[in-house]
Amino acid sequence: MSNAFVSLQKLSLAYGQTVVVPELNLDIREGELIALLGPSGCGKTTTMRAIAGLMTPQSGKIHIGGVDMTHTPANKRGIGLVFQSYALFPHLTAFENVAFGLRLKKMPVSEIKSRVEEGLNTVGLSHLADRKPAEMSGGQQQRLSLARSLVMEPKVLLLDEPLSNLDARLRLDMRTELQRLQRATGITMIFVTHDQAEALALADRIVLMKDGVIEQVGTPDELYNNPASKFAADFFGFENIFAIKGSNIIGSNGSLTANFDAENGHLAWRPSAISVGSGPFQGTVMGVSFAGEQREYVIKTDFGQIKAANPAADPVYEIGTLVAFDLPSKSAWHLPNVGNDS
Ligand SMILES: Nc1ncnc2c1ncn2[C@@H]1O[C@H](COP(=O)(O)OP(=O)(O)OP(=O)(O)O)[C@@H](O)[C@H]1O
Ligand SMILES: [Mg+2]
Repeated sequence: MSNAFVSLQKLSLAYGQTVVVPELNLDIREGELIALLGPSGCGKTTTMRAIAGLMTPQSGKIHIGGVDMTHTPANKRGIGLVFQSYALFPHLTAFENVAFGLRLKKMPVSEIKSRVEEGLNTVGLSHLADRKPAEMSGGQQQRLSLARSLVMEPKVLLLDEPLSNLDARLRLDMRTELQRLQRATGITMIFVTHDQAEALALADRIVLMKDGVIEQVGTPDELYNNPASKFAADFFGFENIFAIKGSNIIGSNGSLTANFDAENGHLAWRPSAISVGSGPFQGTVMGVSFAGEQREYVIKTDFGQIKAANPAADPVYEIGTLVAFDLPSKSAWHLPNVGNDS
């Protein structure tokens, strides 16, 4: 607790009477890259706004660098922000947008020039230094917003879906660039996304939120391989999750009698763990889609819907075909104590 660089303690956040985050506790180490992950509306942006000082908590504390900053104004917290809306100055060029904060700091002109050039170069916008935001694409504006924060060399950088408007290729490049920057500068970064692949690729630790509550905190490895709840398992790609009672699985349409290696809780399989073509169970193909290396199947069964995947080179089973499949016990993830959470 005490050597945390950013510490959120019993933080309660509300809009008027509506409590969005009831009680959040989170410690972040200096230089850590944290991904805040969760479905739309779970309170990610709200949490970031509180850390940044853009909203006052109902109760609880925010410590940054060992100092209680719960009531410190936003501009005194040493925090950089890149938000969903870029909030660029429309009347200023890209260069001047990035220079703005440095000019406020009364930095020598020559240093401003070199820092801005370096910042624009980092995000691949050197060639657009004289453009105004309205003359740039959404992705370019997003990168400009990132450059503007980086040049201020904040102690903590908060990024709220900073890559959401970029195409797949640029997104990968920027992801790598962000990670490199973070390692090189040692800035503590909190990065909001609702893309699990992005969180897995980038973060030192992932904080998974649901309805304003932290479901699980851990390394990408831990969340991917050891999800602690049905919600976490579902979020990390275990799309086939069934309750289990007395070693039978209970689906939405009925139960399946079989001897699974568990007696209660849930069993979960990734689609890639279920192959179509052989096995003790049967179902009808409702959908089939090509996904590069794999072919994905949606199968209707007597106990509910199954998502399976075969290597793309395997024979194709068309819609309407009755197929056999297996739910291998050895590749099931067992969630013992999660009751009926959704
Ligand atoms: N200014 C506001 N006034 C009232 N309610 C708000 C306000 N801003 C957000 N909310 C509500 O608070 C909840 C959390 O919102 P928040 O913006 O933190 O979600 P989020 O996790 O960032 O979602 P997204 O992934 O869609 O950006 C939502 O139910 C939202 O409707
Ligand atoms: Mg948000």
